[in-house]
Amino acid sequence: MDKEKKEESSAIHPAVAPLSYLLGTWKGEGEGGYPTINSFRYGEELHFSHPASGKPVIAYSHKTWKLDSGQPMHSESGYWRPKPDGSLEVVIAQSTGLAEGTYSAEDNVIKLHSQVVANASKVREISRVYEMVNGDLHYVVQMATNLTTLQPHLKAVLKKL
Ligand code: HEM
Repeated sequence: MDKEKKEESSAIHPAVAPLSYLLGTWKGEGEGGYPTINSFRYGEELHFSHPASGKPVIAYSHKTWKLDSGQPMHSESGYWRPKPDGSLEVVIAQSTGLAEGTYSAEDNVIKLHSQVVANASKVREISRVYEMVNGDLHYVVQMATNLTTLQPHLKAVLKKL
């Protein structure tokens, strides 16, 4: 590949630029709970990349593990598509078989709210808020199930590697 082509393919699409602070690998710990389960802590790594396709898309993957044994827990992956109007479409497939279509039109704080949750035995709704605080990525995930209204399930603080 010649130099010019290479630079072209590694350029950040203008639609992705406002979210470029996410690109890279983030690692940290989180804590989870819900009215119906015991609370727990977990290790976690998030990865955001911008495929060199020239398309306005960010590929997202996430894995978690037990802090004591390192045994894998929940994982998920998907695509974040910033739109020209500044809004954001996100699709996420989870290791539990659950798929989430989320949408947001927020700015510095990224707020995602599920438009659709598919193949979930009991999950009805998912909301996610990501926020940069002093260079750390903080997030909170809430969910509603068939028995419970929107309640916190996870929160974590991650550092960029
Ligand atoms: C339990 C959904 C992410 C760890 C649950 C339950 C649901 C759920 C529906 C069962 C609650 C109940 O029994 O009433 C989700 C959704 C997620 C998510 C929608 C993402 C948006 C995670 C992550 C972890 C995690 C990242 C961490 C590593 C757990 C654990 C339980 C649980 C440990 C308790 C299992 C048990 O006691 O049987 N989750 N989860 N979840 N989740 Fe998540």
